[in-house]
Amino acid sequence: MNKALKFLLFSMLALAVVLMTACGSDEETPPAEQEEPQETPAAEDTEEPAEEATEEAGGVVNLYTSRHYDTDRELYELFTEQTGIEVNVIEGKGDELMERLDREGAATEADVFITADAGNLARLKEKELTQAVNSDVLAANIPDKFRDDDNEWFGLTKRARVIVYDKDRVDPSELSTYEALTEAEWEGRVLIRSSENIYNQSILASFIELNGEEAAKEWAAGIVKNMAREPQGGDTDQVIAVVAGEGDVAISNTYYIGRLLNSEDPEEVKVGEQVGIFFPNQDTNGTHVNISGVTVTKHAKNVENAIKFIEFLSSEEAQFVFADGNNEYPVNPEVEVPELLQSWGEFKEQDIDLTILGDNNARAIQLFNEVGWK
Ligand code: FE2
Repeated sequence: MNKALKFLLFSMLALAVVLMTACGSDEETPPAEQEEPQETPAAEDTEEPAEEATEEAGGVVNLYTSRHYDTDRELYELFTEQTGIEVNVIEGKGDELMERLDREGAATEADVFITADAGNLARLKEKELTQAVNSDVLAANIPDKFRDDDNEWFGLTKRARVIVYDKDRVDPSELSTYEALTEAEWEGRVLIRSSENIYNQSILASFIELNGEEAAKEWAAGIVKNMAREPQGGDTDQVIAVVAGEGDVAISNTYYIGRLLNSEDPEEVKVGEQVGIFFPNQDTNGTHVNISGVTVTKHAKNVENAIKFIEFLSSEEAQFVFADGNNEYPVNPEVEVPELLQSWGEFKEQDIDLTILGDNNARAIQLFNEVGWK
């Protein structure tokens, strides 16, 4: 069988399995639903199809992504229409795709890798799985703080890590800052996931930068003291637990609330409607924001196409669709924020370069261990 055709068939198979097992979440599929969709036997049967495919008209770009939304696929089709470059997509969980990229080494087919969190992108860079891209288009479309200092990764969408509260039991006037959640009045009322999660590592990494290590550690210890239960599950599980009355507030990324509100399951919509979103630290150093982003892989065989593809995703035309598919904020400041997110109001962001989240990651993990945040 033609190798490019084999790759296409495998992509379709992997996609079908992903759709069956993990629809509606990116890197946060609950453990019970994880079936390592991309590790079908066919995965080992892909022998550098990209190289010969580049000689075809328009060529290809091979993408590993932890996102799987119909809107993303529509964008890839639009890119193909505009450039003649085919986009081959392998979808999977972020961690597993990262491991796969690492394992495949120089033999990988992946030209482009999309995943959540600047911390994860920094990890890819640290493992020398990324390469620098110097593009005037990307520099113009993506603000400096959402790009790697060495241009080895680029943010594509933005999310805020906010306080979510039960509308019946908490009045937003009681809320102010992340730090205030460590006070005695919140004892036994705070829900937040495990410190093994990159989102929490990144928020603590941001506090190390903004407030210093001592204050960051104090915050982590204070949250542990006020936890409603031992950390378990993902962000959505914390929000569900708020509505179930296990606690009164949760720390969650914004798009999970968007997913609940847009769910086809009326019970999930009810959960989304029962909670309010509060942007903390508006009078101090701002709400923590992070990105999902993209990198050209170190061993990309189709570098030019990869760069064209990323430039396209950063364009005004693509940015709204890309962000809207996961209820996120576009990184391109020229692009309108999706309506639902506008309804949550504007907010002040932390003013830090997200490269710092990677720099402070190891220290953040250490602080979590020191204060016993599981
Ligand atoms: Fe997520």
